[in-house]
Amino acid sequence: MKGIILAGGSGTRLHPLTLAMSKQMMPIYDKPMIYYPLSTLLYSGINEILIISTPHDLPLFEKLLGDGSRLGCKFEYKAQEVPNGLAQAFVLGEQFIGKDKVCLVLGDNIFQIKINTLTSCKEVEGGIIFGYHVNDPERYGVVKYDEDFKVLSIEEKPTNPKSNYAIPGLYYYDNSVIEIAKNIKPSARGEHEITDVNKEYLRRGELDVRLLGRGTAWLDTGTFQSLMQANQYVQVVEERQGRKIGCIEEAAFKMGYINKVQLLEIAEPLRKSGYGEYLVKLANS
Ligand code: DAU
Repeated sequence: MKGIILAGGSGTRLHPLTLAMSKQMMPIYDKPMIYYPLSTLLYSGINEILIISTPHDLPLFEKLLGDGSRLGCKFEYKAQEVPNGLAQAFVLGEQFIGKDKVCLVLGDNIFQIKINTLTSCKEVEGGIIFGYHVNDPERYGVVKYDEDFKVLSIEEKPTNPKSNYAIPGLYYYDNSVIEIAKNIKPSARGEHEITDVNKEYLRRGELDVRLLGRGTAWLDTGTFQSLMQANQYVQVVEERQGRKIGCIEEAAFKMGYINKVQLLEIAEPLRKSGYGEYLVKLANS
């Protein structure tokens, strides 16, 4: 399975923070935002990853993450000229995906999910998306279930949501997603919507919507408040547990993409901030 991180967009909801800097490069406590979705892909068992961003921001991501070899991975980069929708990721990524399955994660979504839950999605036939109970479903894609958790409807940012279950920005698909995405027509707001991709899988009877229960965290960074909350959440959990969230080096080590010697090499230049110390402890634990 291949992975795609969509890290473009104009970031207008965070202006002036994002006037000169990419949203997905902003700090979330002790690391850049993109580390979090990247770690979600690594923990899914995926190490061939395409990073899509604006032509302006793409070189910065390349500078930060390189070709991935340091982490035992392969990273590729692709520019999205116009931010015309999430479903475009599969059209832009067609060559990269080839004949494989693919997982899309949004570059501004932060997850804390059990590794088993993630790795089990690699076996996807059709599509797998998630439902997560939130207070403000109207800001997201929304899924409605019946009592047996059969999906009744999926809607993008409905004015009157039929449920409190939002659809997080983490999607696993089989290879037919490329064909489906190519045939999506722009919505009223002019975007190729991921929700329309999911509706097509639902129509075909091939969509598995899994519930992310209370023990998991899905944090959004779309507003000043939620960005601040994500920072606070990561700080509180990391300081309490002494364990990091979204640490890509840890993910690469735990998933066996790199060994102890490689981890120690990465850790060395990062020691002054304390981040490297954490990696050294991990390598020796
Ligand atoms: O966060 C989950 C939600 O993400 C889902 O519940 C919605 O169904 C889905 O449509 C999406 O809604 P948003 O309104 O949050 O999407 P937004 O336009 O903010 O884009 C999400 C990320 O993708 C953001 O980091 C910017 C990036 N992006 C967005 C578009 C439209 C791109 O890189 N290219 C694009 O063309």
